[in-house]
Amino acid sequence: MGISSVAVIGLGYIGLPTAAILASQDVTVLGVDISQRTVDAVNRGDVPFVEPDLATYVAGAVTQGKLSAALTPSPADAFIVAVPTPFTDGMKPDLSYIQAAAQAIAPQLQGGELLILESTSPPGATQRMADWILEARPDLSLDGSGSRPVIHVAHCPERVLPGRVMIELVTNDRIVGGLTAEAAERARDLYQVFCQGEILLTDAVTAEMAKLVENSFRDVNIAFANELSVISDNLGIDVWELIRLANHHPRVNILQPGPGVGGHCIAVDPWFIVDAAPEDARLIRTAREVNDAKPQWVIDKVRTAAEGVASPTVAALGLAFKANIDDLRESPARKIVEQLADEMADGTILVVEPHIEELPKELANRRNVELVSLEDALMRADVSVLLVDHDAFHQENLRESVPSTISIDTRGMWR
Ligand SMILES: NC(=O)c1ccc[n+]([C@@H]2O[C@H](COP(=O)([O-])OP(=O)(O)OC[C@H]3O[C@@H](n4cnc5c(N)ncnc54)[C@H](O)[C@@H]3O)[C@@H](O)[C@H]2O)c1
Repeated sequence: MGISSVAVIGLGYIGLPTAAILASQDVTVLGVDISQRTVDAVNRGDVPFVEPDLATYVAGAVTQGKLSAALTPSPADAFIVAVPTPFTDGMKPDLSYIQAAAQAIAPQLQGGELLILESTSPPGATQRMADWILEARPDLSLDGSGSRPVIHVAHCPERVLPGRVMIELVTNDRIVGGLTAEAAERARDLYQVFCQGEILLTDAVTAEMAKLVENSFRDVNIAFANELSVISDNLGIDVWELIRLANHHPRVNILQPGPGVGGHCIAVDPWFIVDAAPEDARLIRTAREVNDAKPQWVIDKVRTAAEGVASPTVAALGLAFKANIDDLRESPARKIVEQLADEMADGTILVVEPHIEELPKELANRRNVELVSLEDALMRADVSVLLVDHDAFHQENLRESVPSTISIDTRGMWR
């Protein structure tokens, strides 16, 4: 049976692009969000955040009547859930958004529908979502038992890179894990509407783990590089030279160290594994701890460099979580600046971040933090610390201007 209508629950960075690309393939899509602002924006054909090419897709789909938005779901052939899956304070996955989405979908089901969880999820979350739906709708089933109509439930994690979402939605390979084999096959058929990458079928819990493992792989390897940077510093070795040399080994590929790990995936997803297997996930937990400890190590370096300077001025170059983007989520640079402002209350922190117009609220409120130009910062600073390897900091003459201050290079750009 073909799918001609889809409801996408959660119209954020993942849900809205998915809704728009399905709508561009002649599927009738209802986008559902609890934010009235988001619903209104989409119904006007607007996009409430920045993602290249998305605005064109949304405007086109809305104009053609293929995409609309609402606060609550309506009946559809398929439902895609792309709501947040954050942590509670105790580093436990918070599945309440998935539960709320499941409870909103349940009354709309008639049997025969496909339900896909796209949110990054701890192992077992897809089954939990199905359980919540079946609690509300005991007249339905996953396998036709008791002659009850079947719903098909699958997990399909998302791997797109912000900034390239509209391209990668089409080109990336995807993993689709079903609670049943038929659910996986039906989900594959839906993604084939727009996805040109390979679609790999498995069970739901393996698909959940695959997403978490991909990000943990990166986290563990970055932790190795970060640990090397601390050891090398103590031994008086240039870690970037060390890594460059070691990587000449045909089977060695050490990543680059930095001031920590940021973003909403790599710094977060490994904790789902630690929570699911606290006794066994020792390496994964330690990698998180190593990466989370790196900002304080940088702060200590800055403080040592500023020792003896009355009311020191520190230039902090970069605030984003990685190079050449404006995304500040979970950024170690942001944490470093905030902490420096606390620990050096008599000093001034000059932030240089070419990709933002104003400081985030928690920094803007501080009297000793300013957003300034690169030239201004380097001219005024007693100590400069490079936190993000933005191209803007690559300027050829930058290195010449840095030695006038004491510089700390967390990215190996000023070597
Ligand atoms: N952003 C990425 O690059 C990325 C990449 C891979 C995976 N993911 C995962 O995808 C999921 C969604 O992430 P995102 O970045 O799109 O989040 P987001 O915060 O941008 O969007 C989530 C949206 O869901 C809405 N929402 C919350 N509860 C809802 C409910 N009960 N019903 C309807 N709407 C609801 C919010 O209002 C918001 O608009 C998360 O699990 C995330 O980890 C994100």
